[in-house]
Amino acid sequence: MRTPFFPGLGLAAVLLTAAVVSCSGGEDPEPSGVDAGDSTPDAGTPPVDSGTPDAGEDAGVDAGVDSGTPDAGEGDAGTPDAGDAGPGLPSVAIPDTLSGFGLFTGSPADGGLQPVEGNIPYEPTTPLFSDYALKSRTLYVPPGKTAGYHARDVLDLPVGSIITKTFSFPADLREPEKDVRAIETRVLVRQPGGWEAYPYLWNAAQTEATKASGGAVVPGIQLIDEAGVTRTFDYLVPSRNQCTKCHHVLDSAKNQVMVPIGVKARYLNRDHVYGAQAANQLQHLAGLGKLSGLPSLDEVPRAPDAFNPDEANLDTRARTYLDINCAHCHNPKSTAGDTSRLFLDIASTETLNLNAGVCKRPGSAGSGVGGEFDIVPGDHSVSILWYRLDTEESGKMMPELGRALRHDQASRLIADWIDAMPARACE
Ligand code: HEC
Ligand code: HEC
Repeated sequence: MRTPFFPGLGLAAVLLTAAVVSCSGGEDPEPSGVDAGDSTPDAGTPPVDSGTPDAGEDAGVDAGVDSGTPDAGEGDAGTPDAGDAGPGLPSVAIPDTLSGFGLFTGSPADGGLQPVEGNIPYEPTTPLFSDYALKSRTLYVPPGKTAGYHARDVLDLPVGSIITKTFSFPADLREPEKDVRAIETRVLVRQPGGWEAYPYLWNAAQTEATKASGGAVVPGIQLIDEAGVTRTFDYLVPSRNQCTKCHHVLDSAKNQVMVPIGVKARYLNRDHVYGAQAANQLQHLAGLGKLSGLPSLDEVPRAPDAFNPDEANLDTRARTYLDINCAHCHNPKSTAGDTSRLFLDIASTETLNLNAGVCKRPGSAGSGVGGEFDIVPGDHSVSILWYRLDTEESGKMMPELGRALRHDQASRLIADWIDAMPARACE
Protein backbone atom coordinates (compact mmCIF):
# COMPACT_ATOMS: atom_id res chain seq x y z
CA MET A 1 0.00 0.00 0.00
CA ARG A 2 2.87 2.33 0.73
CA THR A 3 4.11 4.14 -2.34
CA PRO A 4 7.65 2.98 -2.82
CA PHE A 5 8.58 6.33 -4.25
CA PHE A 6 6.98 9.54 -5.18
CA PRO A 7 4.57 8.68 -7.93
CA GLY A 8 4.38 10.18 -11.34
CA LEU A 9 7.81 10.15 -12.87
CA GLY A 10 8.92 7.91 -15.67
CA LEU A 11 11.98 5.90 -14.89
CA ALA A 12 14.97 8.08 -15.35
CA ALA A 13 18.01 5.96 -15.68
CA VAL A 14 20.96 8.18 -15.10
CA LEU A 15 24.16 6.36 -14.60
CA LEU A 16 25.94 7.34 -11.50
CA THR A 17 29.53 7.44 -12.56
CA ALA A 18 31.38 8.66 -9.54
CA ALA A 19 30.76 7.74 -5.94
CA VAL A 20 29.57 11.25 -5.36
CA VAL A 21 29.07 14.19 -7.60
CA SER A 22 30.90 17.07 -6.08
CA CYS A 23 28.67 19.60 -4.50
CA SER A 24 26.79 21.45 -7.12
CA GLY A 25 24.76 24.09 -5.46
CA GLY A 26 21.46 22.62 -6.59
CA GLU A 27 19.01 24.74 -8.49
CA ASP A 28 17.08 26.24 -5.69
CA PRO A 29 18.83 26.43 -2.41
CA GLU A 30 16.50 29.04 -1.00
CA PRO A 31 15.65 28.48 2.62
CA SER A 32 12.66 26.29 3.14
CA GLY A 33 9.44 27.41 4.68
CA VAL A 34 10.23 25.65 7.87
CA ASP A 35 11.86 26.99 10.88
CA ALA A 36 15.27 25.46 10.63
CA GLY A 37 16.91 25.38 13.98
CA ASP A 38 19.67 27.83 14.60
CA SER A 39 23.23 27.07 15.47
CA THR A 40 23.97 24.60 12.74
CA PRO A 41 27.64 24.41 13.36
CA ASP A 42 28.57 23.30 9.91
CA ALA A 43 25.84 24.75 7.76
CA GLY A 44 28.15 27.15 6.08
CA THR A 45 31.11 24.88 5.78
CA PRO A 46 31.89 24.08 2.19
CA PRO A 47 31.74 20.38 1.47
CA VAL A 48 34.92 18.49 1.88
CA ASP A 49 36.84 17.62 -1.26
CA SER A 50 36.55 13.97 -2.13
CA GLY A 51 40.27 13.71 -1.74
CA THR A 52 40.41 15.04 1.77
CA PRO A 53 40.58 12.26 4.29
CA ASP A 54 37.92 13.11 6.83
CA ALA A 55 38.36 16.74 7.70
CA GLY A 56 37.55 17.68 11.24
CA GLU A 57 34.16 19.04 10.24
CA ASP A 58 32.32 16.09 11.59
CA ALA A 59 34.28 15.48 14.67
CA GLY A 60 32.09 14.79 17.61
CA VAL A 61 29.03 14.16 15.53
CA ASP A 62 29.78 10.91 13.85
CA ALA A 63 31.33 8.05 15.71
CA GLY A 64 32.31 9.16 19.14
CA VAL A 65 29.51 11.61 19.57
CA ASP A 66 28.89 12.95 23.05
CA SER A 67 32.30 11.79 24.04
CA GLY A 68 33.45 15.33 23.78
CA THR A 69 36.41 14.28 21.70
CA PRO A 70 37.35 17.29 19.67
CA ASP A 71 38.62 15.23 16.79
CA ALA A 72 36.97 11.92 16.15
CA GLY A 73 39.14 11.77 13.08
CA GLU A 74 39.41 8.67 11.04
CA GLY A 75 39.62 5.10 12.06
CA ASP A 76 38.16 5.77 15.48
CA ALA A 77 39.68 3.02 17.46
CA GLY A 78 37.23 0.31 18.22
CA THR A 79 34.80 1.02 15.41
CA PRO A 80 33.58 -2.50 14.93
CA ASP A 81 32.74 -2.21 11.28
CA ALA A 82 35.52 0.03 10.08
CA GLY A 83 37.59 -2.98 9.26
CA ASP A 84 37.55 -2.53 5.53
CA ALA A 85 38.43 1.12 5.70
CA GLY A 86 41.85 1.10 4.22
CA PRO A 87 43.93 4.16 4.83
CA GLY A 88 43.75 6.75 2.09
CA LEU A 89 40.27 5.83 0.97
CA PRO A 90 38.52 9.01 -0.09
CA SER A 91 35.75 10.43 2.04
CA VAL A 92 32.42 11.07 0.43
CA ALA A 93 32.01 14.82 0.02
CA ILE A 94 28.92 15.99 1.86
CA PRO A 95 27.03 18.50 -0.28
CA ASP A 96 24.90 21.29 1.14
CA THR A 97 21.93 20.14 -0.90
CA LEU A 98 20.52 16.66 -1.46
CA SER A 99 20.79 17.01 -5.24
CA GLY A 100 24.53 17.41 -4.78
CA PHE A 101 24.81 13.70 -4.00
CA GLY A 102 23.63 12.87 -7.51
CA LEU A 103 21.52 10.06 -6.13
CA PHE A 104 18.15 11.23 -7.44
CA THR A 105 16.59 12.88 -10.44
CA GLY A 106 13.46 14.99 -10.35
CA SER A 107 11.97 16.43 -7.21
CA PRO A 108 8.67 16.13 -5.37
CA ALA A 109 7.69 19.40 -7.09
CA ASP A 110 7.86 18.02 -10.60
CA GLY A 111 5.95 14.91 -9.70
CA GLY A 112 8.59 12.58 -8.42
CA LEU A 113 11.93 12.06 -6.80
CA GLN A 114 13.51 9.10 -8.59
CA PRO A 115 16.61 7.22 -7.53
CA VAL A 116 19.24 7.03 -10.26
CA GLU A 117 20.38 3.64 -11.48
CA GLY A 118 22.60 2.13 -8.84
CA ASN A 119 20.69 3.82 -6.02
CA ILE A 120 18.46 0.92 -5.13
CA PRO A 121 15.06 1.44 -3.50
CA TYR A 122 14.07 -0.91 -0.68
CA GLU A 123 11.44 -1.28 1.98
CA PRO A 124 11.70 -3.06 5.33
CA THR A 125 9.17 -5.75 6.24
CA THR A 126 8.20 -3.64 9.27
CA PRO A 127 9.23 0.01 9.52
CA LEU A 128 9.86 2.42 12.34
CA PHE A 129 6.71 4.39 13.12
CA SER A 130 7.26 8.14 12.72
CA ASP A 131 3.97 9.95 13.12
CA TYR A 132 2.45 8.19 10.11
CA ALA A 133 5.09 9.60 7.76
CA LEU A 134 5.45 7.72 4.51
CA LYS A 135 9.05 6.76 3.91
CA SER A 136 11.03 5.87 0.84
CA ARG A 137 14.47 4.38 1.23
CA THR A 138 17.42 3.80 -1.05
CA LEU A 139 20.73 2.00 -0.78
CA TYR A 140 23.74 2.96 -2.86
CA VAL A 141 26.83 0.76 -2.92
CA PRO A 142 29.69 2.22 -4.96
CA PRO A 143 30.72 0.61 -8.25
CA GLY A 144 32.96 -2.39 -7.85
CA LYS A 145 32.12 -2.84 -4.16
CA THR A 146 29.83 -5.31 -2.43
CA ALA A 147 28.06 -5.52 0.88
CA GLY A 148 28.61 -8.60 3.02
CA TYR A 149 25.65 -10.69 4.21
CA HIS A 150 24.94 -11.17 7.92
CA ALA A 151 22.23 -13.42 9.28
CA ARG A 152 21.54 -11.23 12.31
CA ASP A 153 23.37 -7.88 12.13
CA VAL A 154 23.23 -5.08 9.60
CA LEU A 155 24.78 -5.83 6.24
CA ASP A 156 28.46 -5.05 6.14
CA LEU A 157 28.43 -2.05 3.80
CA PRO A 158 31.64 -0.83 2.16
CA VAL A 159 33.11 2.67 2.41
CA GLY A 160 31.30 4.99 0.03
CA SER A 161 27.87 3.43 0.67
CA ILE A 162 25.01 5.88 1.10
CA ILE A 163 21.58 5.09 2.53
CA THR A 164 18.71 7.56 2.26
CA LYS A 165 15.30 7.75 3.83
CA THR A 166 12.80 10.36 2.67
CA PHE A 167 9.92 11.30 4.97
CA SER A 168 6.74 12.70 3.53
CA PHE A 169 3.13 13.23 4.48
CA PRO A 170 0.12 12.79 2.25
CA ALA A 171 -2.86 15.01 3.03
CA ASP A 172 -4.94 11.88 3.55
CA LEU A 173 -3.43 8.55 4.56
CA ARG A 174 -6.27 6.76 2.84
CA GLU A 175 -5.00 8.17 -0.47
CA PRO A 176 -1.26 8.02 0.12
CA GLU A 177 -0.33 8.93 -3.45
CA LYS A 178 -2.18 12.24 -3.51
CA ASP A 179 -0.99 15.63 -2.23
CA VAL A 180 2.23 14.29 -0.86
CA ARG A 181 4.57 16.75 0.84
CA ALA A 182 8.19 15.78 1.35
CA ILE A 183 9.63 16.99 4.63
CA GLU A 184 13.10 15.61 5.06
CA THR A 185 15.58 13.17 3.60
CA ARG A 186 17.91 11.49 6.07
CA VAL A 187 21.24 10.33 4.78
CA LEU A 188 23.75 7.89 6.26
CA VAL A 189 27.17 7.91 4.65
CA ARG A 190 29.82 5.26 5.17
CA GLN A 191 33.08 7.19 5.43
CA PRO A 192 36.52 5.66 5.95
CA GLY A 193 36.25 6.54 9.63
CA GLY A 194 32.76 5.16 10.15
CA TRP A 195 29.15 6.15 9.49
CA GLU A 196 27.97 9.77 9.46
CA ALA A 197 24.37 11.02 9.57
CA TYR A 198 22.94 14.04 7.77
CA PRO A 199 19.40 15.40 7.70
CA TYR A 200 18.26 17.39 4.64
CA LEU A 201 15.12 19.52 4.80
CA TRP A 202 12.83 19.98 1.81
CA ASN A 203 11.89 23.56 0.94
CA ALA A 204 8.28 24.65 0.68
CA ALA A 205 8.52 24.70 -3.12
CA GLN A 206 9.60 21.02 -2.92
CA THR A 207 12.42 21.65 -5.36
CA GLU A 208 15.43 21.02 -3.15
CA ALA A 209 16.43 19.70 0.25
CA THR A 210 19.15 21.49 2.20
CA LYS A 211 21.42 20.16 4.92
CA ALA A 212 20.06 21.16 8.32
CA SER A 213 22.32 19.74 10.96
CA GLY A 214 20.70 21.53 13.86
CA GLY A 215 17.28 19.95 13.51
CA ALA A 216 14.04 21.77 12.82
CA VAL A 217 10.40 22.01 13.69
CA VAL A 218 7.86 21.80 10.89
CA PRO A 219 4.79 23.27 12.53
CA GLY A 220 1.20 22.41 11.83
CA ILE A 221 1.43 19.26 9.76
CA GLN A 222 -2.10 18.14 9.10
CA LEU A 223 -3.18 14.78 7.90
CA ILE A 224 -6.23 12.59 7.87
CA ASP A 225 -5.37 9.21 9.33
CA GLU A 226 -6.52 5.77 8.24
CA ALA A 227 -9.60 6.04 10.43
CA GLY A 228 -10.57 9.35 8.85
CA VAL A 229 -9.55 11.43 11.86
CA THR A 230 -7.76 14.72 11.18
CA ARG A 231 -4.51 15.04 13.08
CA THR A 232 -2.51 18.24 13.44
CA PHE A 233 0.90 18.23 15.01
CA ASP A 234 4.37 19.73 14.92
CA TYR A 235 6.84 17.48 13.20
CA LEU A 236 10.36 17.40 14.62
CA VAL A 237 13.31 16.88 12.32
CA PRO A 238 16.05 15.46 14.51
CA SER A 239 19.40 17.16 14.75
CA ARG A 240 22.55 15.30 13.81
CA ASN A 241 23.25 14.62 17.46
CA GLN A 242 19.80 13.10 17.85
CA CYS A 243 20.45 10.73 14.96
CA THR A 244 23.11 9.17 17.14
CA LYS A 245 20.69 8.54 20.01
CA CYS A 246 19.13 5.80 17.93
CA HIS A 247 21.89 4.99 15.45
CA HIS A 248 24.66 3.73 17.69
CA VAL A 249 26.19 0.79 19.47
CA LEU A 250 28.65 0.99 22.31
CA ASP A 251 32.12 -0.32 21.61
CA SER A 252 34.21 -2.08 24.22
CA ALA A 253 35.30 1.27 25.68
CA LYS A 254 31.62 2.35 25.77
CA ASN A 255 32.09 4.94 23.04
CA GLN A 256 29.09 5.42 20.81
CA VAL A 257 29.74 4.19 17.30
CA MET A 258 27.28 5.19 14.64
CA VAL A 259 25.53 2.34 12.77
CA PRO A 260 22.61 1.82 10.39
CA ILE A 261 19.60 0.02 11.91
CA GLY A 262 17.18 -1.40 9.40
CA VAL A 263 19.44 -2.82 6.69
CA LYS A 264 19.40 -6.27 8.22
CA ALA A 265 18.66 -9.41 6.25
CA ARG A 266 15.47 -10.17 8.19
CA TYR A 267 13.98 -6.77 7.38
CA LEU A 268 15.12 -6.77 3.76
CA ASN A 269 13.79 -10.26 3.13
CA ARG A 270 10.70 -9.33 1.12
CA ASP A 271 9.70 -8.49 -2.42
CA HIS A 272 9.94 -5.08 -3.99
CA VAL A 273 8.75 -3.99 -7.43
CA TYR A 274 11.65 -2.85 -9.59
CA GLY A 275 10.39 -1.29 -12.78
CA ALA A 276 7.60 -3.69 -13.64
CA GLN A 277 8.96 -6.75 -11.90
CA ALA A 278 8.77 -7.92 -8.33
CA ALA A 279 11.85 -9.53 -6.84
CA ASN A 280 13.15 -10.38 -3.41
CA GLN A 281 15.20 -7.39 -2.26
CA LEU A 282 18.18 -9.43 -1.09
CA GLN A 283 18.28 -11.51 -4.25
CA HIS A 284 17.98 -8.35 -6.30
CA LEU A 285 21.02 -6.87 -4.55
CA ALA A 286 22.95 -10.11 -5.00
CA GLY A 287 21.96 -10.23 -8.67
CA LEU A 288 23.36 -6.76 -9.18
CA GLY A 289 26.63 -7.89 -7.63
CA LYS A 290 26.02 -5.66 -4.60
CA LEU A 291 25.65 -8.38 -1.97
CA SER A 292 27.93 -11.33 -1.35
CA GLY A 293 27.41 -14.40 0.79
CA LEU A 294 23.61 -14.55 0.51
CA PRO A 295 22.51 -18.13 1.30
CA SER A 296 19.42 -19.64 -0.27
CA LEU A 297 16.33 -17.73 0.81
CA ASP A 298 14.93 -20.51 2.98
CA GLU A 299 17.96 -20.05 5.21
CA VAL A 300 17.57 -16.30 5.51
CA PRO A 301 15.67 -15.07 8.58
CA ARG A 302 12.60 -12.95 8.01
CA ALA A 303 10.91 -10.43 10.28
CA PRO A 304 7.18 -10.43 9.57
CA ASP A 305 5.01 -7.42 8.91
CA ALA A 306 4.04 -6.72 12.51
CA PHE A 307 0.46 -5.92 11.52
CA ASN A 308 -0.30 -8.82 9.25
CA PRO A 309 -1.68 -11.77 11.24
CA ASP A 310 -1.20 -13.98 8.17
CA GLU A 311 2.55 -13.60 8.44
CA ALA A 312 3.20 -14.59 12.04
CA ASN A 313 1.62 -15.17 15.43
CA LEU A 314 0.88 -12.38 17.88
CA ASP A 315 4.02 -12.97 19.94
CA THR A 316 6.38 -12.78 16.97
CA ARG A 317 4.65 -9.72 15.53
CA ALA A 318 4.66 -7.81 18.82
CA ARG A 319 8.32 -8.63 19.44
CA THR A 320 9.16 -7.59 15.89
CA TYR A 321 7.46 -4.26 16.46
CA LEU A 322 9.51 -3.70 19.60
CA ASP A 323 12.66 -4.82 17.79
CA ILE A 324 12.40 -2.23 15.02
CA ASN A 325 10.84 0.57 17.09
CA CYS A 326 12.61 0.27 20.42
CA ALA A 327 15.61 -2.06 20.30
CA HIS A 328 18.06 0.45 18.80
CA CYS A 329 17.98 2.11 22.23
CA HIS A 330 16.88 -0.85 24.33
CA ASN A 331 19.57 -3.44 23.78
CA PRO A 332 22.60 -4.52 25.79
CA LYS A 333 24.94 -2.59 23.50
CA SER A 334 23.36 0.86 23.49
CA THR A 335 23.36 3.69 25.97
CA ALA A 336 19.69 3.59 26.97
CA GLY A 337 19.78 -0.20 27.27
CA ASP A 338 22.90 0.00 29.31
CA THR A 339 21.27 2.38 31.78
CA SER A 340 17.66 1.13 31.82
CA ARG A 341 18.54 -2.59 31.56
CA LEU A 342 15.39 -3.01 29.48
CA PHE A 343 16.20 -5.02 26.34
CA LEU A 344 13.62 -5.17 23.60
CA ASP A 345 15.63 -6.63 20.74
CA ILE A 346 14.23 -9.75 19.13
CA ALA A 347 16.78 -12.04 20.81
CA SER A 348 16.23 -10.60 24.30
CA THR A 349 12.45 -10.93 24.17
CA GLU A 350 12.63 -14.59 23.20
CA THR A 351 12.58 -15.37 26.90
CA LEU A 352 10.17 -13.13 28.72
CA ASN A 353 12.31 -12.43 31.74
CA LEU A 354 13.26 -9.42 33.82
CA ASN A 355 15.45 -7.81 31.14
CA ALA A 356 12.57 -8.02 28.70
CA GLY A 357 10.57 -5.97 31.20
CA VAL A 358 8.51 -8.71 32.86
CA CYS A 359 7.84 -7.72 36.46
CA LYS A 360 10.71 -5.24 36.13
CA ARG A 361 10.62 -2.07 38.19
CA PRO A 362 11.88 0.80 36.05
CA GLY A 363 15.30 2.13 36.92
CA SER A 364 14.27 5.71 36.44
CA ALA A 365 11.97 6.79 39.21
CA GLY A 366 8.94 8.65 37.99
CA SER A 367 5.30 8.47 38.77
CA GLY A 368 2.28 8.62 36.56
CA VAL A 369 3.57 6.12 34.04
CA GLY A 370 0.72 3.69 34.43
CA GLY A 371 2.01 1.27 37.01
CA GLU A 372 4.92 -0.13 38.96
CA PHE A 373 6.32 -2.66 36.49
CA ASP A 374 7.29 -2.47 32.83
CA ILE A 375 5.21 -5.53 31.96
CA VAL A 376 2.60 -7.14 34.21
CA PRO A 377 1.79 -10.38 32.38
CA GLY A 378 -1.89 -10.57 31.52
CA ASP A 379 -2.68 -6.90 32.14
CA HIS A 380 -1.50 -4.19 29.78
CA SER A 381 -3.48 -1.52 31.66
CA VAL A 382 -1.00 -1.55 34.55
CA SER A 383 2.09 -2.15 32.40
CA ILE A 384 4.48 0.80 32.08
CA LEU A 385 5.79 -0.44 28.76
CA TRP A 386 2.35 -0.21 27.22
CA TYR A 387 1.60 3.08 28.92
CA ARG A 388 4.73 4.75 27.62
CA LEU A 389 4.11 3.44 24.11
CA ASP A 390 0.52 4.64 24.22
CA THR A 391 0.90 8.08 25.77
CA GLU A 392 1.48 11.31 23.84
CA GLU A 393 2.87 13.09 26.86
CA SER A 394 6.41 14.27 26.26
CA GLY A 395 8.90 13.13 28.85
CA LYS A 396 6.93 9.91 29.21
CA MET A 397 6.32 8.70 25.71
CA MET A 398 8.46 6.06 24.05
CA PRO A 399 10.29 6.28 21.82
CA GLU A 400 11.43 9.49 23.43
CA LEU A 401 12.43 10.83 20.01
CA GLY A 402 10.77 10.70 16.64
CA ARG A 403 7.12 10.73 17.46
CA ALA A 404 4.47 13.12 18.66
CA LEU A 405 1.45 10.95 17.89
CA ARG A 406 0.22 7.63 19.23
CA HIS A 407 0.51 4.70 16.86
CA ASP A 408 -2.94 3.28 17.51
CA GLN A 409 -2.34 -0.02 15.76
CA ALA A 410 0.84 -0.61 17.77
CA SER A 411 -0.82 0.33 21.00
CA ARG A 412 -3.41 -2.39 20.34
CA LEU A 413 -0.79 -4.90 19.25
CA ILE A 414 1.28 -4.50 22.41
CA ALA A 415 -1.82 -4.47 24.63
CA ASP A 416 -2.96 -7.76 23.06
CA TRP A 417 0.51 -9.24 23.47
CA ILE A 418 0.71 -8.41 27.18
CA ASP A 419 -2.87 -9.53 27.79
CA ALA A 420 -2.14 -12.87 26.12
CA MET A 421 0.71 -13.64 28.56
CA PRO A 422 -0.30 -16.04 31.34
CA ALA A 423 -1.44 -13.74 34.15
CA ARG A 424 0.92 -13.40 37.03
CA ALA A 425 1.22 -10.97 39.92
CA CYS A 426 4.47 -9.05 40.09
CA GLU A 427 6.16 -8.13 43.29
C1 HEC B 1 13.93 7.50 17.16
C2 HEC B 1 15.06 6.80 16.65
C3 HEC B 1 15.73 7.33 15.38
C4 HEC B 1 16.24 8.58 15.19
C5 HEC B 1 16.23 9.77 16.12
C6 HEC B 1 16.81 8.56 13.85
N1 HEC B 1 16.64 7.33 13.29
FE1 HEC B 1 17.25 6.76 11.44
N2 HEC B 1 16.29 4.97 11.68
C7 HEC B 1 15.71 4.52 12.84
C8 HEC B 1 15.23 3.17 12.64
C9 HEC B 1 14.54 2.32 13.69
C10 HEC B 1 15.54 2.82 11.32
C11 HEC B 1 15.25 1.49 10.59
C12 HEC B 1 13.81 1.33 10.27
C13 HEC B 1 13.31 2.12 9.12
O1 HEC B 1 14.02 2.35 8.13
O2 HEC B 1 12.13 2.53 9.20
C14 HEC B 1 16.21 3.98 10.74
C15 HEC B 1 16.66 4.04 9.44
C16 HEC B 1 17.41 5.07 8.93
C17 HEC B 1 17.97 5.08 7.60
C18 HEC B 1 17.89 3.93 6.63
C19 HEC B 1 19.10 3.03 6.90
C20 HEC B 1 19.01 2.26 8.19
O3 HEC B 1 19.71 2.63 9.17
O4 HEC B 1 18.24 1.31 8.27
C21 HEC B 1 18.63 6.27 7.46
C22 HEC B 1 19.38 6.73 6.24
C23 HEC B 1 18.47 7.00 8.69
N3 HEC B 1 17.72 6.26 9.56
C24 HEC B 1 19.04 8.23 8.92
C25 HEC B 1 18.84 8.97 10.08
C26 HEC B 1 19.34 10.31 10.30
C27 HEC B 1 20.22 11.08 9.32
C28 HEC B 1 18.86 10.71 11.50
C29 HEC B 1 19.01 12.07 12.17
C30 HEC B 1 18.56 13.20 11.38
C31 HEC B 1 18.08 9.62 12.06
N4 HEC B 1 18.10 8.58 11.17
C32 HEC B 1 17.44 9.64 13.27
C33 HEC B 1 15.61 5.22 14.02
C34 HEC B 1 15.98 6.54 14.19
C1 HEC C 1 15.86 7.14 21.49
C2 HEC C 1 16.07 6.06 22.42
C3 HEC C 1 14.86 5.29 22.90
C4 HEC C 1 13.95 4.62 22.15
C5 HEC C 1 13.87 4.51 20.64
C6 HEC C 1 13.06 3.98 23.07
N1 HEC C 1 13.43 4.26 24.33
FE1 HEC C 1 12.54 3.57 26.04
N2 HEC C 1 13.92 4.54 27.16
C7 HEC C 1 14.93 5.34 26.69
C8 HEC C 1 15.66 5.90 27.81
C9 HEC C 1 16.84 6.85 27.70
C10 HEC C 1 15.05 5.41 28.99
C11 HEC C 1 15.43 5.73 30.47
C12 HEC C 1 14.87 7.04 30.88
C13 HEC C 1 13.37 7.03 31.00
O1 HEC C 1 12.79 6.14 31.67
O2 HEC C 1 12.74 7.92 30.40
C14 HEC C 1 13.95 4.57 28.56
C15 HEC C 1 13.10 3.89 29.41
C16 HEC C 1 12.05 3.09 29.01
C17 HEC C 1 11.18 2.38 29.93
C18 HEC C 1 11.36 2.31 31.44
C19 HEC C 1 12.34 1.17 31.54
C20 HEC C 1 12.97 0.81 32.86
O3 HEC C 1 12.79 -0.37 33.23
O4 HEC C 1 13.65 1.67 33.45
C21 HEC C 1 10.26 1.72 29.16
C22 HEC C 1 9.14 0.81 29.65
C23 HEC C 1 10.55 2.02 27.77
N3 HEC C 1 11.64 2.85 27.73
C24 HEC C 1 9.83 1.53 26.70
C25 HEC C 1 10.16 1.78 25.39
C26 HEC C 1 9.41 1.24 24.27
C27 HEC C 1 8.21 0.33 24.39
C28 HEC C 1 10.01 1.73 23.15
C29 HEC C 1 9.58 1.52 21.72
C30 HEC C 1 8.19 1.75 21.42
C31 HEC C 1 11.14 2.55 23.55
N4 HEC C 1 11.19 2.55 24.91
C32 HEC C 1 11.98 3.20 22.67
C33 HEC C 1 15.24 5.56 25.36
C34 HEC C 1 14.53 5.06 24.28
